[in-house]
Amino acid sequence: MPHSVTLIPGDGIGPEVSAAARRAVDATGVRIDWEVAELNSDLIIKTGVSLPPSVLESLNRTLIGLKGPVTTPIGGGFSSVNVALRKKLDLYANVRPVHSLPGIATRFQDVLIDMVIFRENTEDLYSGIEHEVVPDVVTGIKVITRVASTKIAEYAFRYAHLNGRKKVTAIHKANIMKLADGLFLRCCREVSERYPHIEYKELIVDNASMQLVMRPETFDILLLPNLYGDIVSDLAAGLVGGLGIVPGANMGDRHAVFEAVHGSAPDIAGKGIANPTAMMLSAVMMLTHMKETDAAKRLHAAIEKVYAEKKHTTGDVGGTATTEEFTNAVIAAL
Ligand code: NAI
Repeated sequence: MPHSVTLIPGDGIGPEVSAAARRAVDATGVRIDWEVAELNSDLIIKTGVSLPPSVLESLNRTLIGLKGPVTTPIGGGFSSVNVALRKKLDLYANVRPVHSLPGIATRFQDVLIDMVIFRENTEDLYSGIEHEVVPDVVTGIKVITRVASTKIAEYAFRYAHLNGRKKVTAIHKANIMKLADGLFLRCCREVSERYPHIEYKELIVDNASMQLVMRPETFDILLLPNLYGDIVSDLAAGLVGGLGIVPGANMGDRHAVFEAVHGSAPDIAGKGIANPTAMMLSAVMMLTHMKETDAAKRLHAAIEKVYAEKKHTTGDVGGTATTEEFTNAVIAAL
């Protein structure tokens, strides 16, 4: 039986990198019925509907999505469909493995960076609750709940336990946001007590940012509320070679939607030069989730081989290959 997957190309570089990831997955031999679902800024502007029912219907059927980025206008316009999708399907855990790849020249070439970010994905300042109290005075509401904080902490510790990870670091600003981040931290501590064999540490987010740049190899599992998780993800991507190579998954109890950390990259969209590695590695996570472990391992190894050979990598990581040339090289390596 083929697997059914909802493929959301998105916009910007989304259609280019998702087509590349689809070709790479098909080349593993795993049979997939791709249900293509349109979700992009043009469609949202044209229809006035931010989350078309067809996308939700497809995901409710397949329960698995591979998603390209979708542009969100800045400082006005429609609100983020990415955030809406995560809330609607309760994709509460954003999982982002940040791992060094061979052959990429970074400032940290001599150290192995191997961390996994667990970002709460449904609340915090992403609640979208903002008010203009009086002209020129605006408030934004940070929502932190026991339920969501415990769920992400439990997800991170369970992952650490099942994958032989040694340390979980909860990242917060509870010295200032004593109630909100204080609650997040209390939930992390409570969950940590159920996993005494895993070291538990806490770091204030500003210090954590500095430590990440100074000593990235000392981090293992990072556990963060939504906003810090978003910012720290891009910082961590910068340590291993940039947004072009860091994958991710939005996990709920029923649904799973796999997508890169990066956005729609309008500066390079349509030029055929985007790096599809992050999308392909998101597809590797998807294959693992589907229990297609052998195909996942083969695709991962093929990507690493292309990086180790340094002949067909894209411009963002110092190469000269196009999206298509990189994809062809991965498929050849498979
Ligand atoms: P971005 O991640 O799109 O781009 C940041 C920089 O990284 C750009 O210079 C871009 O060219 C580069 N880059 C990103 N992905 C790349 C790739 N695969 N290959 C080569 N270079 C790559 O972030 P930005 O510019 O802040 O956001 C653009 C739009 O994307 C915004 O509308 C934002 O809201 C949206 N966005 C959507 C996300 C999603 O759908 N999950 C996530 C993040 C941003």
